[in-house]
Amino acid sequence: MTIETSASTEAARAQIGVTGLAVMGSNIARNFARHGHTVALHNRSVAKTDALLADHGDDGDFVRTETIEEFVAALQKPRRVLIMVKAGDPTDAVIEELAGAMEAGDIIIDGGNALYTDTIRREASLRERGLHFVGAGISGGEEGALNGPSIMPGGPKESYEALGPLLESIAAQVDGTPCCTHIGPDGSGHFVKMVHNGIEYADMQLIGEAYHLFRDALCYDADRIADVFTEWNAGDLESYLVEITAEVLRQKDAKTGKPLVDVIVDAAEQKGTGRWTVKSALDLGVPVTGIAEAVFARALSGSRDQRAAARGLASGTLGDKPTDAAQFTEDIRRALYASKVVAYAQGFDQIAAGSAEYGWDVTRADLATIWRGGCIIRAQFLNRIKEAYDADPELPSLILAPYFREAIESGIDSWRRVVATATMLGIPVPGFASSLSYYDGLRAERLPAALTQGQRDFFGAHTYERVDSPGKFHTLWSGDRSEVVA
Ligand code: 6PG
Repeated sequence: MTIETSASTEAARAQIGVTGLAVMGSNIARNFARHGHTVALHNRSVAKTDALLADHGDDGDFVRTETIEEFVAALQKPRRVLIMVKAGDPTDAVIEELAGAMEAGDIIIDGGNALYTDTIRREASLRERGLHFVGAGISGGEEGALNGPSIMPGGPKESYEALGPLLESIAAQVDGTPCCTHIGPDGSGHFVKMVHNGIEYADMQLIGEAYHLFRDALCYDADRIADVFTEWNAGDLESYLVEITAEVLRQKDAKTGKPLVDVIVDAAEQKGTGRWTVKSALDLGVPVTGIAEAVFARALSGSRDQRAAARGLASGTLGDKPTDAAQFTEDIRRALYASKVVAYAQGFDQIAAGSAEYGWDVTRADLATIWRGGCIIRAQFLNRIKEAYDADPELPSLILAPYFREAIESGIDSWRRVVATATMLGIPVPGFASSLSYYDGLRAERLPAALTQGQRDFFGAHTYERVDSPGKFHTLWSGDRSEVVA
């Protein structure tokens, strides 16, 4: 261990600086130090810096600094500073302070969950000042930050030459491949992290619906449901979220002895990245129905007053509970897998649309590769997604890749049974149901959108296309109802 104050440092020697030493920032700084890098530390209040050094100074080489000037002076050139502060105004304030002390060619990395449009703005403004700005999505929570996160850096390609090896050294590794790669210019890193979080919401919602069905349709207790998730985690559904679901379900409350999940208030909160994903999808015109349902399901769960007022509303006549528990369990497993594929397919569609809109040239197979480890949505089946996009980078939809198509087609009957049974039992399954509707919509020979077009033409002369001749047409609805070329 070496801890120096910048005053005692003869030469600037830190390879990286981290400012913002709350849990995520501290853990990333420690991760860099553990990988042999000298890390300059800075925090608005020095107490946090000192606490980190007192508790974890043994992790490696740190340089303690108090002011931004000391911090910047401690860094080797080109200087690399990772900001780990709250998204929004606090990030702008730190960037401004740093930019004033840094020189052309230096690199500022924002590792927070920033809104990608903010990142686009910041990158453009710092570029004008000769600085590189890298918006880097970082996933994996506190544990990942310390032991290997998945990192999604955007920003100028040339900055990745100086930054990539550092980031790759602390990222999770899968089969010897780091879970970090350059995503594309300006806001692309934060955009893909945002969609990652949207997929995370959808995945959690689907798992929640499976849990709900076990609880209320099969009347399983939390331990028994945990056993099912543990078993599933040994197969196609193997993933971090399925794994931790079993752990959460097995946890007992110290105070009551009940399963913890039974004493937690059933109102899900959200910090905003799921909402951002849906807003962006609306602008891009991409139907991310699974993600949207997940965001709205959280909002509904949190509408406590309305829920209290609505609690006595009639259910109507409910159906019978399933009698073959083994069959229904297998049905839920297949429905979960198929709905999950839809959620990922929609998320990857949004990334393709965002990439086209902003000219980022994001490679979807690369994303699948770096999401295999470190991040919250890491899952065995990301290997399959990677293979699918490797085989066909222009794949129109993930559900058309032979592996996923087979998985969905062989599970379709189960999927329908689960949605029908849930509906007959009055158990809400917005994720399962909307994914199934999306699937049916996508594969439909003919959608009712023809009628929508007719209605639009009726009240607004918005015109329509015909199935048998090119061009746009309009019917003279308030005249003799003949058709004219528009
Ligand atoms: C990650 C997580 C992380 C955070 C979410 C939580 O990838 O490490 O996604 O970013 O835990 O933002 O989001 P909500 O509070 O909105 O659920």
